Amino acid sequence: MPLIRQHADKTSAAKAVAQEIAELIGLRSLSGKKTVLGLATGSSPLALYAELIRLHRDEGLSFKDVIFFNLDEYVGLGADHPHSYRHFMEQNLFHSIDLPKSSTHIPDGLSKDFSAECQAYEDRIKSVGGIDLQILGIGRTGHIGFNEPTSAETCRTRHVTLNAITRVDNAGFFGSPESVPKEALTMGVGTILEARKIALLAFGAGKAEIVLRAFREKPNGHCPATWLQLHPDCTFHLDAAARSSL
Ligand code: GLP
Repeated sequence: MPLIRQHADKTSAAKAVAQEIAELIGLRSLSGKKTVLGLATGSSPLALYAELIRLHRDEGLSFKDVIFFNLDEYVGLGADHPHSYRHFMEQNLFHSIDLPKSSTHIPDGLSKDFSAECQAYEDRIKSVGGIDLQILGIGRTGHIGFNEPTSAETCRTRHVTLNAITRVDNAGFFGSPESVPKEALTMGVGTILEARKIALLAFGAGKAEIVLRAFREKPNGHCPATWLQLHPDCTFHLDAAARSSL
């Protein structure tokens, strides 16, 4: 079962998870190893990325030995598109820390061959020894990454169709639900479950119901976040509002 950690607010949660990341990077670099971090987009990890930038700027935390893999990308949006997840990551983290661009990985939503792109993504994760810590948000549909309802626990990185609720929820960035891309490339549930450690971030009353389902329902594909119950080292970092139904 996931551990529940309640924080005073999202800033305190961000500080706790950023500290965990800093310690992980420190420990692995002591033994000459790189750290492989899985990253998420959306509003939930924004304070975490701000805190990582602060740790870099004020406390000298270096990311030169970190390899990053993002969960997902919209189909049809390239790095220059203001709503692509590549753009989001450049703006909210990558531009402000010390890293070679070659250490960041996000599925290519402009690829001409999605199945080859997704297989190559899986291969790249394997070739660096797997993900040490995966950051996750959770969608109202129970999605993790873009693994929407009906996603099996074994599914791998692949081309998916987005749920209508997800497109409504993400419309804020695009102006209207109709402007939100209908498809995405996402790491699979099976890919996510192979990360050695998982930290899911959820804040606010709007997440209370889905957090409750993720925690209380038996693992099932209709609420993909329930698959996290099968992971041996997963923590849900919540504020009081997101935890209120538990
Ligand atoms: C998007 C992302 C997910 C993220 C979700 C929640 O759909 N693909 O990875 O978890 O949004 O977003 P937010 O954190 O803004 O609630």
